[in-house]
Amino acid sequence: MNKKASVISVVNQKGGIGKTTTTINLCKALQEKGFKTAIIEMDPQGNAATALGFKNVEITTKDVLIRICMEEEISLDYGILHSTEEIDLLPATPELAGMEYVLYELKEKGRTALKKYIKIMETHYDYIFIDCPPFLGLLSANALIAADSVIIPMLAEPLPTQGLQQLLKTILEARKKSNPNLKIAGILFMNVDLRTANTLSIIEQIRAAYKNNIYVFKTLVPRRIAVSEAQGMGKSILTYEPKNDASKAFLELAEEIIHG
Ligand SMILES: Nc1ncnc2c1ncn2[C@@H]1O[C@H](COP(=O)(O)OP(=O)(O)OP(=O)(O)O)[C@@H](O)[C@H]1O
Ligand SMILES: [Mg+2]
Repeated sequence: MNKKASVISVVNQKGGIGKTTTTINLCKALQEKGFKTAIIEMDPQGNAATALGFKNVEITTKDVLIRICMEEEISLDYGILHSTEEIDLLPATPELAGMEYVLYELKEKGRTALKKYIKIMETHYDYIFIDCPPFLGLLSANALIAADSVIIPMLAEPLPTQGLQQLLKTILEARKKSNPNLKIAGILFMNVDLRTANTLSIIEQIRAAYKNNIYVFKTLVPRRIAVSEAQGMGKSILTYEPKNDASKAFLELAEEIIHG
């Protein structure tokens, strides 16, 4: 029997809250637990490629999406990079930004391009993660339509809820229009500093507000300087400092993902 990857989009339209960091380190934690993982980068900033140590990439997400839209054949390994972290990656570059308009013009075909691509590769991985950009356009819409579930990383800061409401509305729209089985795996608190006043009370408020309909991961990913140092070295925190609290947090998060 052919397996099919679990496809997880890591999404939040707010910038700099830890989407890419979650994508890379959760993927690494799952890889260490024996799963075959890949990342598709849907963010023109290309941070996932950089964080996995790649510079000057050639074939990118943009090329793949264009080929899919043109109904050209794509081989399984087209554009896929194999990182030293043993995570596969389809990288992005700033050129991907231009695809927002192209995908918009293509209407339905432009919304389902990523889903079609994933159909080609989904039997070769256990988990495919989609690293989303910090805006809710057609690239994010593609990620929501292609996914089985979403992880919503967020910071434990005052007043984060307005953006969250907008994001949940977008997720519900994707579910209603194109992807009825789309699940919210959970809200993940990233970059948590428990010494900061109010952090725990904000987390508790969010847990209470969504307790009947959205899971909030038990794992809190702590703020640790080594996390960004690792990214600068093109490594996951799990490789860079396996004993770091943040590495342990990503391994715990992987367990929450595996056991649903
Ligand atoms: N747990 C953490 N501890 C310390 N630094 C962190 C942690 N999580 C994220 N960071 C740092 O915060 C910055 C933003 O994180 P990241 O790039 O993952 O956010 P993002 O949501 O993907 O941003 P963008 O929206 O621009 O794509 C990075 O420099 C990253 O190294
Ligand atoms: Mg990012």
